[in-house]
Amino acid sequence: MHQILDATWKESYRVLKPGGFACINIGDATRTVNGNFALYTNHARILKFTQEIGFCALPCILWRKQTNAPNKFMGSGMLPAGAYVTLEHEYILILRKGAKREFKKDTDKKNRRSSALFWEERNLWFSDIWFDIKGSPQAINDKNTRKRSAAYPFELAYRLINMYSAKGDLVLDPYLGMGTTTSAAIASGRNSIGYEIDNMLQDANNRTKEAIIETSRQIIRQRLVNHIDFVLKRINVKGKLKYNNSHYEFPIITAQEKELLINEPLTITSVEQNVFTVNYSLTAQQEFCKDWSISQQL
Ligand SMILES: C[S@@+](CC[C@H](N)C(=O)[O-])C[C@H]1O[C@@H](n2cnc3c(N)ncnc32)[C@H](O)[C@@H]1O
Repeated sequence: MHQILDATWKESYRVLKPGGFACINIGDATRTVNGNFALYTNHARILKFTQEIGFCALPCILWRKQTNAPNKFMGSGMLPAGAYVTLEHEYILILRKGAKREFKKDTDKKNRRSSALFWEERNLWFSDIWFDIKGSPQAINDKNTRKRSAAYPFELAYRLINMYSAKGDLVLDPYLGMGTTTSAAIASGRNSIGYEIDNMLQDANNRTKEAIIETSRQIIRQRLVNHIDFVLKRINVKGKLKYNNSHYEFPIITAQEKELLINEPLTITSVEQNVFTVNYSLTAQQEFCKDWSISQQL
């Protein structure tokens, strides 16, 4: 398996722009090795190889996928010392090609500012352990196919894309599956390409794309609702906030969020088999734009 994956990491490194990121979701596995129960450390094997070919490894994320399954405990139960801790996490390895990305041109700087996250999102998303994303399907339905395709949750791809790329960037998934990555890229205003060897997943992929306008609408609006809820609570406790967002005019914590604008996908059109174009709103969602100074005085 790792010999096959190695070729993918090499090709990913080749096609990445300097300063671009590779995010690899991988779980370790338990195996019987020479008759003994043991851990096969997939993440360590991938980290070793990807660094050898030139990637710069950055602090990674532990994705805690809680399970209530009764068989999650392994080994000799309550009797020491033959029990093993549960394997309820996977890794998201964060790798960069070369040095830090630079945003030199004015247009790039502006686009970067417009791609900003909310302060409270930064606090949660840039934590090294993600407890709040369930391993079960989210946002996109079609449970049976998702299970078969080993799809990861939409939120996982959505966060990573928003954390490590800017609007208009190109996101590539070498193992497309149900198209979770490309869907999350559409919802985030990024271009995307995916490779998938299994033709059987095409229908599911197309259905996901048909639903992406509504899926994005829900995800984006929830982000805005969460933000407003967060700042109103904060104002209640700490008083008026210093900054306001220039598009929505709602209060924000830092000056870096001033130009944040979440462009909503409006239409998706199939232009040829497996190729879609998406049109986006260029303005802020009207229902979130109002005179927020009254709430500021809470
Ligand atoms: C774990 S799934 C990816 C799931 C995907 N990230 C999602 O959330 O929907 C891996 C996928 O890679 C595909 N795959 C395996 N080998 C491949 C190859 N050589 N080229 C392209 N796709 C491949 C499999 O068919 C499978 O759908």
